[in-house]
Formats: sequence, C-alpha cells, structure tokens
Amino acid sequence: MIYYVTPTYPRPEQVPELTRLAHTLMHVPRIHWIIADDQPLCSDVVLNILRRTNLPFTHISSPKPFLYKGTNFPRGVSNRRAAVAWLQENVSDGILYFGDDDNTVDLELFDEIRNTKKVSMFPVGLIGGYGVSSPVVKNGKVAGFFDSWPGSRTFPVDMAGFAVNMKFLKPSASMPYIAGHEEDKFLVSLDLKMEDIEPLADNCTKILVWHTKTAKYKKPTVKINLKQFDGEPKFQNFVNLLKETSRLGMASIESNNGTKPYIIRDRKSYETLTGLQ
Ligand code: UGA
Ligand code: MN
Repeated sequence: MIYYVTPTYPRPEQVPELTRLAHTLMHVPRIHWIIADDQPLCSDVVLNILRRTNLPFTHISSPKPFLYKGTNFPRGVSNRRAAVAWLQENVSDGILYFGDDDNTVDLELFDEIRNTKKVSMFPVGLIGGYGVSSPVVKNGKVAGFFDSWPGSRTFPVDMAGFAVNMKFLKPSASMPYIAGHEEDKFLVSLDLKMEDIEPLADNCTKILVWHTKTAKYKKPTVKINLKQFDGEPKFQNFVNLLKETSRLGMASIESNNGTKPYIIRDRKSYETLTGLQ
C-alpha cells in the first residue's frame, strides 16, 4: 500500500487542484490517500472529493499553529506531522509519500516507489534555478545532489523527491517548522545514511513528478442579494450556480459589497440584477 500524504488548505484553486490529483490517484492500485486539512474542522468540499474517488482515505484536521499565520511560514508542516502521527499509530507496512495538492505525477512513479526498502529518491521537475532537483547517481549509488539551493542541507531534495518504507519510519521521525528545511530535517530525523538511499527512475535520469505551481487567483466578491430571487423560479438555476461558486470557494457573494454583476444578452446588459425586470 502506498500512503499518499497531501496537505491542503482552502483557496479558489483548491477544488480544481484536488480534482486533478484525485483523477490521477484513481488510476493507482493499492493507494490510501491521506488528506491533511489546514482547517480546524475537516472541510465538506474536500471530503466530497475524497468520497468520489472510491479510494481508501483518511481525512485529518491539522490546522497550522496560530504563530505561523504570517508570511514565509513553513507550509504544510502541521498537516504532514499529523499524517505521520496517524501512520505511526495505525500502520506498520507500506510506503509513505508526500505529494502536495498542486504537484503533477506520472503514474509510473507509483510502480517505482512501491518497492522502496528504506528511502528511495528520484528527480523532481520545475525546481529552482536548474529546472530539476535530483540525486546524482554513480555506479548505482547516490553520490551527491543537484539542487540550485544547497541551503546547508545534508539531503537537498524536494518534498516530492523521496518515498519512505513505513518500517524505516522511526519513532524519532519529525518534521520541523523551518521553511526550506522540512525535507532535509525529516530525512535526518530518520537517521538516513547516503548508502541507504535507493535511486529510482532509471538511476535518476527520468522525471516522473513536477513541482507545478498554479497562478494565485484573488477570490472576488460579487455584489448580489440572493434574497431578491426568493420565489422567482426562472432564476433558480442561476442562483444555484452562484451558490455553488461560493461553496467551492471561488467567489464570495455579498449583498452590500463587491463587483456589480450583469447578465448579457444581444451584447447588452439584460439583467442588472439589482432589481428584477
Ligand atoms: C514547497 C514544497 O514543495 C513544499 O513541500 C514545502 O512544504 C514548501 O515549499 C515550504 O517549504 O514551505 P510550495 O509549492 O512553495 O511548496 O508551497 P505550496 O504548494 O503553497 O504549499 C505546500 C503544501 O502545503 C501544499 O499541498 C499546500 O496545499 C499546503 N499548504 C499551504 C497548507 O496546508 N496550508 C497553507 O497555509 C499553505
Ligand atoms: Mn506547491
């Protein structure tokens, strides 16, 4: 079993990104999806995506500590720590993989990581100033690392660039709240040695996962008083669309603030939506 650990948090891109990832994971046999939700309560929107996959899953509420609500905080750490704690309590066999909600994964990656004995590593595309971050393999062994930000790290790799056998997940395993050092300090906490690392993806020559980033979309507010449509059956589909857009986190609908909306017909504004015609 592969335990695919995904931190997530609410934003306009969350549902499309999780939908895309769900539709990748649905092609993978023997996978258990652990979504660690950066929310004080697990979100219904996320739970619905999980349910529709028909995959075994665990949905954990793992809000970040208040201290880290500023900028340049370590992202996804409270989530991954909660997932690791859950795995340590509930699972003894299988493979742990940290896959963020915005990464892109080739299905071949799963065939590769499934046989990890201790810790396997492989290239990740779209990282930093080299376009890739990867171990460098000589004579079948990891001899060093190619990553544009060494950052005084023992293992300068991306979160998506390694997998761990649960047998190797020691009680000492811990991920620090230090931006940029989460992966390295986690691997060091496993007491990993260079000679333990199993290079995958044809001796780290193939790229099977990418650190894709989605352009941030500022959530708009639409000024519309939905109450005006009560008892107006001809607007029911439209009202339901607005409610769905708001429920999925892509816009706020407010009655006294935001962008003034119009419906267009024959190239003209047809309904001003401030009063019904
Ligand atoms: C990069 C690495 O790929 C992450 O693994 C690492 O945690 C992060 O940097 C870091 O060092 O802080 P990046 O693409 O820059 O990730 O960050 P995001 O994709 O915004 O966040 C990483 C993960 O944490 C995502 O799965 C995201 O959904 C989650 N996250 C982000 C939260 O759960 N809460 C937040 O407030 C922000
Ligand atoms: Mn990301």
